[in-house]
Amino acid sequence: TAQRQDLATRAADLLKQHNAVLVAHYYVDGALQDLALATGGIVSDSLEMARFGRDHAAQTLVVAGVRFMGETAKILSPEKRVLMPDLDATCSLDLGCPADDFARFCDAHPDRQVVVYANTSAAVKARADWMVTSSCALDIVSDLHAKGQKILWAPDRHLGRYIQEQTGADMLMWNGACIVHDEFKGLELQLLREQHPGALVLVHPESPESVVEQADVVGSTSALIKAVVEGSAPAYIVATDNGILHRMRQLAPGKTLIEAPTAGNSATCKSCAHCPWMAMNGLANLVDCLQGGQPEIHVDEATRVKAERCITRMLDFTA
Ligand code: 13P
Ligand code: SF4
Repeated sequence: TAQRQDLATRAADLLKQHNAVLVAHYYVDGALQDLALATGGIVSDSLEMARFGRDHAAQTLVVAGVRFMGETAKILSPEKRVLMPDLDATCSLDLGCPADDFARFCDAHPDRQVVVYANTSAAVKARADWMVTSSCALDIVSDLHAKGQKILWAPDRHLGRYIQEQTGADMLMWNGACIVHDEFKGLELQLLREQHPGALVLVHPESPESVVEQADVVGSTSALIKAVVEGSAPAYIVATDNGILHRMRQLAPGKTLIEAPTAGNSATCKSCAHCPWMAMNGLANLVDCLQGGQPEIHVDEATRVKAERCITRMLDFTA
């Protein structure tokens, strides 16, 4: 609509005026993804968001995603100003892994390498040896396993189980889940596949085992987009947040994209196929945050210094 176009133009002007760059995730409002790309920013998975924010010369980063993404940007670039449209945009994995409980878990297993998913607080990262995202977890855990290390894993149990099964590593796991991916259903997916026999099944590894085991491709959001762009099949069943369809449609306009089935529909299930926290990012609060210079992400310096180690280690490993 015209109003959305006005807001997008206003946001683009403000980004330029404040020497700011927009770093967006594939699950946010398509208008924000388009704006990021049109103004020299990026839309990507969480690994490349972290790298891009660290390496970009802009003094202000505006992160359109969830809180852990803003915190990671700040941890890597303490000298930059990191703004987010809404600091209440959290993640069920982060909420389900409180730092003090996690510290007790680590204290009880000092012989293990602590590997945490990006979707955690700065305080949890401060206790970790390694941070991983869905795009590098397999490689990093394989490497640790090959070196004879035992692992303490947190917080996503589905991703952890998948990595454990693929690598054979000794992994002690936290019991967390993503409320969005946890809703994808294996039995319903099987029925849907029967209706679309030529379709490839693309699954984010935060999904349950019954869904992952039917996948043709398991991977991060960037990996799933690449699979659609490069795949020779005409149709794809997509088991991840449906915000990703915006970019998939742009990059692979001729292909049929089908959403994987969830337990309920939007009337019965608030988190089905779309993350309620990613959805807190919009054009209006983006304009507000650029205009007012807040909300801004702050990370306590002692925590930041400790958390930086495990993130830098991951970025070096994947460089
Ligand atoms: P990616 O790193 O694959 O983009 O995943 C982030 C996320 O929050 C998925 O739910
Ligand atoms: Fe967290 Fe799931 Fe939302 Fe990703 S989709 S931010 S894992 S709640």
